[in-house]
Amino acid sequence: MQTIFSGIQPSGIPTIGNYIGAMKQFITLQENYQCFFCIVDEHAITVPQDRLKLRQQTLQLASLYLAVGLDPERATIFIQSEVPAHAEAAWIVQCNTPLGELQRMTQFKDKSQKLGMEGVNAGLLTYPPLMVADIILYNSHLVPVGEDQKQHLELTRDFVERFNTRYGTVSQSILTLPEVKIPQKDAGGRVMSLQEPTKKMSKSDGNSKGFISMLDEPNVIRKKIRSAVTDSSGKIEYDPANKPGISNLLVIYSAMSGDSIPSIVEKHQDSGYADFKNELAEVVVSVLEPIQERYNELLVSEELQTILDEGAEKAKKVANKTLQRMRNAVGLGRKPRRK
Ligand code: AMP
Ligand code: TRP
Repeated sequence: MQTIFSGIQPSGIPTIGNYIGAMKQFITLQENYQCFFCIVDEHAITVPQDRLKLRQQTLQLASLYLAVGLDPERATIFIQSEVPAHAEAAWIVQCNTPLGELQRMTQFKDKSQKLGMEGVNAGLLTYPPLMVADIILYNSHLVPVGEDQKQHLELTRDFVERFNTRYGTVSQSILTLPEVKIPQKDAGGRVMSLQEPTKKMSKSDGNSKGFISMLDEPNVIRKKIRSAVTDSSGKIEYDPANKPGISNLLVIYSAMSGDSIPSIVEKHQDSGYADFKNELAEVVVSVLEPIQERYNELLVSEELQTILDEGAEKAKKVANKTLQRMRNAVGLGRKPRRK
């Protein structure tokens, strides 16, 4: 059976962008793959976090993983920092990655240009090697993510090829080369902000009207959708280049309802934006309400703690084996070990 790995940062409450771009894929994939779904708290501290909030968000994300339907019998759900192999493997990755490659990553370039070299931590630069470590430790074949992670996956593939060439043998490679799996744009690979539809919807957006959090109450969801930015033509059409606002709402409608965009457009041929938005709000509420109910029960349950304990144990077993292969390859320790 092939293996899947993906992670979400506990840097806030997941948005419907995370749900559509990432989590929704996880649910179907767990049927046919061995899956590891991680709460990447070490990634979250690349930017300053409040300690109490970070811990709370870590548990909230874990309960949401379960509430959307991830099944701990099929998928291993765990917290990154509870498996020390991630940080150790990341060091080996860093020592085998040219600095220039990291400096060219869009995310680092954007943030460091905005905040200056003194305003960002070194962890922001070395964040992609940590992500590489996450992926390779589980011998992952496939990584389901949103569009914004494409560059990081390219870096991962380049790293694996370089590492295997440098340290592997002709007959045996050390690391598995992963493939990326991104939903098409019209299927929600990049859900846009409700307020600035040319920008990605993000849980760390300063303006909370730009995103719908998976824990927003029904009335908040209705209000945010009603105030979503559209255009003045009043015609419901899918045209991301010229009508990014309404096109984004169509993508959300389609992903949340399972209906195709053309069928939604046809159904709303004679509707105005206000009616369309009201209907969309009910679709979103009907998906999120049952998730929120399960979430509330799980968050305070003993079950959640047990699942995370067991998840970390299972993850450690797999991760430590790969880490040992990496240590052997580069020559760490007194002698090569089998386990
Ligand atoms: P993050 O919240 O940055 O940890 O992202 C977790 C996962 O959600 C990654 O696979 C992202 O690519 C995906 N994701 C985040 N925001 C969006 C968005 N606006 N649209 C689609 N996918 C997203
Ligand atoms: N960098 C990803 C994000 O911000 C989160 C992440 C960390 C991840 N490690 C990963 C995603 C490994 C997929 C695989 O969205």
